[in-house]
Amino acid sequence: MNKKIFAKLLAHSQNNLDKITQPYIQETFGVQVQRCDTIEQYVEAIDDACLNKYFSKYWQNDMKKWKYSGLALIDEVNSLKPRAVLDVGCGYNEFKGKIHNLIGIDPYNNLADHEVGTLEYRTDQKFDVILCLGSVNFGNKDKIIAEVSRCVSLLADGGTMFFRVNPGVQHDKPEADWIEFYAWNVPFIIELAEMFQLKILDIRDDTNQRKYFIYRKTK
Ligand SMILES: C[S@@+](CC[C@H](N)C(=O)[O-])C[C@H]1O[C@@H](n2cnc3c(N)ncnc32)[C@H](O)[C@@H]1O
Repeated sequence: MNKKIFAKLLAHSQNNLDKITQPYIQETFGVQVQRCDTIEQYVEAIDDACLNKYFSKYWQNDMKKWKYSGLALIDEVNSLKPRAVLDVGCGYNEFKGKIHNLIGIDPYNNLADHEVGTLEYRTDQKFDVILCLGSVNFGNKDKIIAEVSRCVSLLADGGTMFFRVNPGVQHDKPEADWIEFYAWNVPFIIELAEMFQLKILDIRDDTNQRKYFIYRKTK
């Protein structure tokens, strides 16, 4: 649940749903959503609409700017000779055709191979490599854990996951104002490794205060 949106709706409505009108939502959050039955449903719908608006229309990428988690990954991943690679939250799917056997998923970018979120993606396939580059970073701790858990279940035994994570730095554009960036840190990276029995192969500081790290599924 996006705490910023929840706090704003609660302060405005005092739990009276009639006060959460379409004009109020449009004026406050800059998006439109269907009528909902609970405040929690409004939070989910507005959060999804804000992420969709920002990542489908405003966010721009520059893969060249990352020291470790951008173009350098092409050779690093190909050297593992993966039979299947999943790029979770692939954005403009820039690794397509450069990293071998790659499928990109993203709920908010129509250049993805499948326009679907991490938790909604359904497949029987297992992946030797999973990329989570800036894409497991939205919402609260429970959501992040659920998404990492889903990635671990999609990873083949012995498989490798590459992450770029944001320590909670807000993006500059005003269209990102209502997005909740989870504040990743090293203790949490270690906590997840213990939770899912992953080996940490590397942790480094990447450009723009981002952390780059690699997990291996050891079982
Ligand atoms: C900061 S961008 C990074 C994109 C790309 N991985 C890169 O490195 O350039 C974050 C991406 O995560 C995607 N995203 C947001 N929520 C997601 C979810 N629940 N599942 C998968 N991708 C998601 C966004 O649409 C966006 O393309």
